[in-house]
Amino acid sequence: PRVGVIVVAAGSGTRLGAGAPKAFVGIDGRSILRHVLEGVFAAPLAQVVIVAPAGREGDALSEALATAGDRRDLVSVVAGGDTRQGSVAAGLAALWADVEVVLVHDAARALTPAEVFERVIAAVDGGAAGAIPVLPVIDTIKRVAGDEIVAAVDRAELAAAQTPQGFRRDVLDEAYDAAVADFTDDAALVADAGHAVAAVPGHPLAFKITTAADLDRARHLITEPAP
Ligand code: CTP
Ligand code: MG
Repeated sequence: PRVGVIVVAAGSGTRLGAGAPKAFVGIDGRSILRHVLEGVFAAPLAQVVIVAPAGREGDALSEALATAGDRRDLVSVVAGGDTRQGSVAAGLAALWADVEVVLVHDAARALTPAEVFERVIAAVDGGAAGAIPVLPVIDTIKRVAGDEIVAAVDRAELAAAQTPQGFRRDVLDEAYDAAVADFTDDAALVADAGHAVAAVPGHPLAFKITTAADLDRARHLITEPAP
């Protein structure tokens, strides 16, 4: 299929607190956006839409062109919205007419390997309306009410959701047109519209850089050679 990816990079990075929009914060000499685009451009894609903070579209384009190599013609940059969902909607509006499968990816998952993209694309290509990468939950999880443990929750029933999340283009367009509430991810929005979403194996390197500790971890992973 012809696959388009929407890289949402329009957030402010409040919790990271690095004094700049998160996508432009450096991990090593290169920004979070540069790193995420390395994984993106290693995947088999027909269009790459970067959703940038309003006013930073030119900076996002420069970062993209520095990474795209001979795939620079695939790149579009648009300004994001006040919420992640609004930013995805802005990205959807910029997709070319011939894109059949859409991946939505957090720029903040800067170290996501290309193999995760390939697994998600394969699941949607194989007939799923949507597919998302997940990891098993490691901690023992409790249901609580205030300071009281109400129940233990069976970990086997739980998974942690990552991105890129992939969908048939018609399914995602329709779900976004219908969405009235705010959803925490695109899979929840699509599920609310009545579609089944499949799970594929995620990857530990697809963790989201949210806090300063996460950025430290990313720095360490990049700069320390694997044992
Ligand atoms: N995002 C976006 N537009 C928004 C909010 C978030 O494109 N209005 C993107 C972020 O750039 C990020 C992804 O959605 O790649 C996940 O969001 P999050 O990790 O919450 O990033 P921020 O919103 O930037 O961080 P914070 O919530 O700490 O401000
Ligand atoms: Mg946020």
